[in-house]
Amino acid sequence: MLLAAASVAAAYLATSLYFGIFNTFLVSLTLLLLYGIVFHPRWVYVAAKTAPRDIRAVGCYIKILWLTRQLTKKNWTMPDIFHDTVKRHPDKPCFLFHDEVWTFKQVEDFSLRVTAVLKAQGYKNGSVVGLLVNNSPQLPALWLGNARLGHVTPLINTNQRGSALIHSINVAKCDVVIYSDEFQSAIQDIAKDLSPSVKLFKFSHRPLNPGSKAGGGVGDQVEDFTSLLEKTAPAPWTLADGEGFHGKLMYIYTSGTTGLPKAAVISSSRMVFMASGIHYLGGLNSSDIVYCPLPLYHTAGGIISVGQAFIFGCTVALKPKFSASQYFPDCIKYKATVAHYIGEMCRYVLATPPSPADTQHSVRVVYGNGMRPQIWNEFVKRFNIQHVAEFYGATEGNANIVNIDGKPGAIGFVSRIIPQVYPIAIIKVDQQGEPVRDSQGLCQLAEAEEPGVFIGKISPNNPARAFLGYVDKAASEKKLVRDVFKHGDSAFISGDIIVSDEFGYLYFKDRTGDTFRWRGENVSTTEVEAAVSRQAAHRDAAVYGVLVPNTEGRAGMCGIVDEDNSLDLDKLASDLAKDLPAYARPIFLRVMPKLDMTGTFKMKKTDLQKEGFDPNIVKDKLYYLDAKLNRYLPLGPQEYEKINNGQIRL
Ligand SMILES: *[C@@H]1O[C@H](CO)[C@@H](O)[C@H](O)[C@H]1NC(C)=O
Ligand SMILES: *[C@@H]1O[C@H](CO)[C@@H](O)[C@H](O)[C@H]1NC(C)=O
Ligand SMILES: *[C@@H]1O[C@H](CO)[C@@H](O)[C@H](O)[C@H]1NC(C)=O
Ligand SMILES: *[C@@H]1O[C@H](CO)[C@@H](O)[C@H](O)[C@H]1NC(C)=O
Repeated sequence: MLLAAASVAAAYLATSLYFGIFNTFLVSLTLLLLYGIVFHPRWVYVAAKTAPRDIRAVGCYIKILWLTRQLTKKNWTMPDIFHDTVKRHPDKPCFLFHDEVWTFKQVEDFSLRVTAVLKAQGYKNGSVVGLLVNNSPQLPALWLGNARLGHVTPLINTNQRGSALIHSINVAKCDVVIYSDEFQSAIQDIAKDLSPSVKLFKFSHRPLNPGSKAGGGVGDQVEDFTSLLEKTAPAPWTLADGEGFHGKLMYIYTSGTTGLPKAAVISSSRMVFMASGIHYLGGLNSSDIVYCPLPLYHTAGGIISVGQAFIFGCTVALKPKFSASQYFPDCIKYKATVAHYIGEMCRYVLATPPSPADTQHSVRVVYGNGMRPQIWNEFVKRFNIQHVAEFYGATEGNANIVNIDGKPGAIGFVSRIIPQVYPIAIIKVDQQGEPVRDSQGLCQLAEAEEPGVFIGKISPNNPARAFLGYVDKAASEKKLVRDVFKHGDSAFISGDIIVSDEFGYLYFKDRTGDTFRWRGENVSTTEVEAAVSRQAAHRDAAVYGVLVPNTEGRAGMCGIVDEDNSLDLDKLASDLAKDLPAYARPIFLRVMPKLDMTGTFKMKKTDLQKEGFDPNIVKDKLYYLDAKLNRYLPLGPQEYEKINNGQIRL
């Protein structure tokens, strides 16, 4: 028997050597196909249907890997990669902003001045220079100049105030913070609570007037960075110092799943990986003009869109603040061919009255994240968009996915034919979001149509699979799951519930963990609970997100205990405004006379969440936040009605 098997194998081997590997491959394929058609006809149907998609994706993936391989060999960091782009077309516009045009050369020159100033200030290799700066061409040029010295740049969320801002500066261990003048008072409020070793510079958005002697005069506690730039000649160009392609480049803050913002580590390789994913899978090319109204302190705007310029030489039009009515008119103004969105924006843009601008623009592709299936088709039709490249991927994660073929509502796909090619998976989880293990202690793949949690398999040397985590190592550990498909392996666990259909298209369902999404930001419930408790004399608070008709994400709601009727809501509203960014402030309050002590308050969140803000169900006093007055107003059946039909806007 053994002998027979051995001789068959030997014959097979001889034949394959004789006919060549290719023929063997074809024969095996045919046999496999026949077997498939007979025994698994449905599988063959799915495979045939999805093969073109998969083949295109594999093509893009090879391009991405090729690019990252080349750059790994050169061991370049972002300033070096950018320099290569500058050499190709120094005079091409890199950034458009209001009516300013910044060529590639100008951006690099600005960054070389930044390098010279920071060097002259004596900051050494490995310093951490935080930026609290509004959207502008100077923001990426600042970090570029900083990166040339081998420094790391935390990009601080410009909504942060008070304790959250202090936390952001401390958790990244900033040696320097450069803030733009809009944030003067935010910095003033916290300056006394910062370590004296943190050096502050103020940056003013104004055209440089080299050689100027003005500004930064004696007596100023904080030096004016812009006048230093004016006084200092640009550094001569050199290859960047630092840790190379895979080394730390930036920190970007996320509200992972619990607690205060965490600083996620972004390397040049991760930037290349994320930006090239959109570039190739979205079908962009270097002649594209990209419109980006997103904040540049998040990965979407600051890494993916800026990357289109820095790595691929596209022109990127920046906007200080998103405006729904200006979205397509801006695209016309800047002749944009590609536009960046987040889901909320699409809904707001759709809510604007029809206008000729709807179709007069030349936007071919929109990319972004969170476009809901309900509005997808309407958006594409009304604005005449050829391709929606919806993507998904956590800042701190290690894998991203992109909708390559415009399947409405899908955030990407896994191949049904060769799922192993790309290191992601959907695994089964229990109610708490913990992986379900089989008898061997390993995780299990979720079936089609079965919701599960998205994971990215980790392999440290492949930028598509490396996990850089957070500055805080303990926090990083919480995002890992071990012994996934074999003992000893590991994966990044996103905490997002995703469901795949029969063809492998993936759809976002919900999130696990203690966060919800509001106004395009991740809000951590524990962070808000801590702030409410701090501002309300340590009362117990439970924060959760509730669904509001016709809005994206979930609005924050806070259950708070007030036994003796002494809670001052006006004071609470104004104190919270100093402690929390606008998007994180609770929109609804539920004030409870006492706490039913069965189980802990926090454990009751699911019940509270189910009851929502409906005064017909909830017997406790309800309030909603009037954004203009910044006051909590009583919420009765009439207000409830108006919130639901959009007459009261939150
Ligand atoms: C900067 O630090 C990196 C890593 O710590 C090191 O490889 C590099 O040589 C240093 N460069 C200088 C100029 O000190
Ligand atoms: C890239 O350069 C850095 C710093 O010089 C070095 O530490 C690292 O090992 C290099 N990486 C490769 C792949 O050569
Ligand atoms: C590159 O982008 C431009 C601008 O959107 C577009 O007109 C052109 O067709 C694209 N070229 C290719 C080869 O896709
Ligand atoms: C919010 O979290 C989700 C899931 O972890 C991630 O995909 C998204 O990029 C995050 N958004 C921001 C703005 O941090």
